[in-house]
Amino acid sequence: LRLGILGSGYGSNFEAILKAIKSRSLDAEIAVVMSDVEDSRILEKAREAGLPAIFVDPGTHPLRLPSGPQKEILDHLERHGVQVVVLAGFMRLLKEPVLSAYRDRIVNIHPSLLPKYKGRDAWVQALEAGETEAGCTVHLVNEDLDGGEILAQQAVPILPRDTSETLLARIHEAEHGLLPKVLGEWKSSGRKID
Ligand code: GRF
Repeated sequence: LRLGILGSGYGSNFEAILKAIKSRSLDAEIAVVMSDVEDSRILEKAREAGLPAIFVDPGTHPLRLPSGPQKEILDHLERHGVQVVVLAGFMRLLKEPVLSAYRDRIVNIHPSLLPKYKGRDAWVQALEAGETEAGCTVHLVNEDLDGGEILAQQAVPILPRDTSETLLARIHEAEHGLLPKVLGEWKSSGRKID
């Protein structure tokens, strides 16, 4: 499975995928890594791993991603022969033409048990709501923010003394197991690859 990974930040999920590939627990290859943040750790880590690492200039708006960069992302995905796109902490919404070109072939990892707590800081929302459980979700990406078909979830407990940091660390650990697992089962579960 040829993967294209998009992220804006630290890249721990990218690292988890890379580790799973190296240890042969995931039969896949990372064709390209892209980011909307030029000095992001994810790009730095991708370069260190010898992978194509591309900064896509998002323009001046802090949240939106205009059509120019959306097209640029699609060009890079196609040029690198990407079959499945992984959003690993990518903080902008993907739109056309990427969504149609990669329909049912884009996954996102989100730090909550969707459909609960969409959007930013989802684990803080769960903590503040007094939940006893949080978790992470791998889902397909469509036009709706954190709203596509759920592929897999893993719950983690919220403990009485948890802070947002301790809870996030527990969720991240769950993410690092869940995301490579879903990708590893992609072909056998009959999901689209092209
Ligand atoms: C993860 O918590 C993921 O759920 C969210 O963004 C974070 C990315 O972390 N969408 P990292 O960059 O993979 O370390």
